[in-house]
Amino acid sequence: MFKNVIVRRPAQSLSNGITSNPQLGKPNYENALVQHDNYIKALKLCGVNVHVLEADERYPDSCFVEDVAVCTDKFVMVTSPGAESRKGEEKEIVETLRNFYEEIKFIQAPGTLEGGDVMMVGDHYYIGLSDRTNGEGAQQLIAALESYNMNGSVIDMKEMLHLKTGLAYLEDNILLVAGEFISHKAFDQYTKIIIDEDESYAANCIRVNDFVLVPERFYKTREKIEAAGLKVITVDTSEYMKVDGGLSCLSLRF
Ligand code: GLY
Repeated sequence: MFKNVIVRRPAQSLSNGITSNPQLGKPNYENALVQHDNYIKALKLCGVNVHVLEADERYPDSCFVEDVAVCTDKFVMVTSPGAESRKGEEKEIVETLRNFYEEIKFIQAPGTLEGGDVMMVGDHYYIGLSDRTNGEGAQQLIAALESYNMNGSVIDMKEMLHLKTGLAYLEDNILLVAGEFISHKAFDQYTKIIIDEDESYAANCIRVNDFVLVPERFYKTREKIEAAGLKVITVDTSEYMKVDGGLSCLSLRF
């Protein structure tokens, strides 16, 4: 069960966020704020305490707070973002994390790691080797996990921005998979819900206690998740999609 969630309000500079989809246009700030309000409401419906951090205009992507830490039951790892414009964001989360964790660890250079590349399945953490997360960063996280009797493994990646751009673990052995992960051998043991290519954005869902948060207007994905017996809350994240952000990126859950 998750008890706590940390989010950071979007900055007006979100319009300068990193994007691989410039054709979608720039995010509308007013709409992004409304969508963020609704995201917080949805999380509260899942029974978690939501801790809301102020916007940080210096970092356009700073509302994607998932990338700056990996929260486990036993310790938190402050990451080291691989994207140049995001370096430094991680320092701004440390004081907040001290309210929740006694054990705080830090990824050290030349390691890079972003939380979007880390997927928790019980005590096991899959770590995607993306353009943002390198082998050194992954090994530092694995060593920390092992020191607390948990473990991790690395996943080679070719296309996706982050590991969780194309994967979401929904508990009960159910895994949402899209794109390059559909036939990836590492995930053969899971009951897979395969996301259609035209809905691949919707692979970035989050299970929060009794509910799965699913992006709005991805009807086929929603239907498949409900058919697996899971309760869905939909949240509109269309402004965040314009800068490669989604439901998991917008929060730290622990
Ligand atoms: N725009 C989100 C990211 O690239 O990290």
